[in-house]
Amino acid sequence: MKNAIRIAPSVLSADLARLAEQVQAVEEAGADWIHVDVMDGHFVPNLTFGAGLIAALRRITELPLDVHLMVEHPEAYIDAFADAGASVFTLHPEATVHVQRHLAQVRARGMLAGLALNPATPLSFAAEVIEDVDLLLLMTVNPGFPAQQYIAAATEKITRARRLLAESESRAYLEVDGGISRDTIGQAHGAGADTFVAGSAIFGADDPGAALKELRKRCMAVA
Ligand code: DX5
Ligand code: ZN
Repeated sequence: MKNAIRIAPSVLSADLARLAEQVQAVEEAGADWIHVDVMDGHFVPNLTFGAGLIAALRRITELPLDVHLMVEHPEAYIDAFADAGASVFTLHPEATVHVQRHLAQVRARGMLAGLALNPATPLSFAAEVIEDVDLLLLMTVNPGFPAQQYIAAATEKITRARRLLAESESRAYLEVDGGISRDTIGQAHGAGADTFVAGSAIFGADDPGAALKELRKRCMAVA
């Protein structure tokens, strides 16, 4: 049976010199997915990882790899990331044109198709393609960097997104990303999110495993 909620630590905030050890620690603490933030220095003002890191993670964990592409023309990486072992491939509609086609291409390569919306992007972008979406990711910060503050107005958008999924009879995951901490995870869950990315709240802690368990506890405390 699926966990009621999923927690996806973002390796963006991990100590990359000790990546295997840190991934193992969160896996032992019950991490559900591993979140990988891919940035190109154009769509967002930061540069991070490519297929090489995904392949490396695939060798050190069996957890699903939840790959979030903050790059222009993410479709250029569908094949490479599928080959590298990505499980979820999430693209931004602000970063490309033929979104429906690319979501279908992601599924055709055996990955879950994710659609991520920046804080200023209306939910209607997701509504138009909801049948092609396995995961709807709402950004709760403007993407690019870890350890930013959760945008409070996002909570109401989560509520509307949950309603959209229900009305569309969609079984897509509803994921939130950015500023998720012990103080904000409860409100995001209360509004309807079921999957939680956390970077600094987990890997910025002295004990990442304990921090993850505390997040889950705080989350589950909100019905
Ligand atoms: C934001 C990234 C996030 C980031 C979250 O640009 O998409 O996944 O790693 O980091 P925290 O949890 O520290 O806000
Ligand atoms: Zn992310």
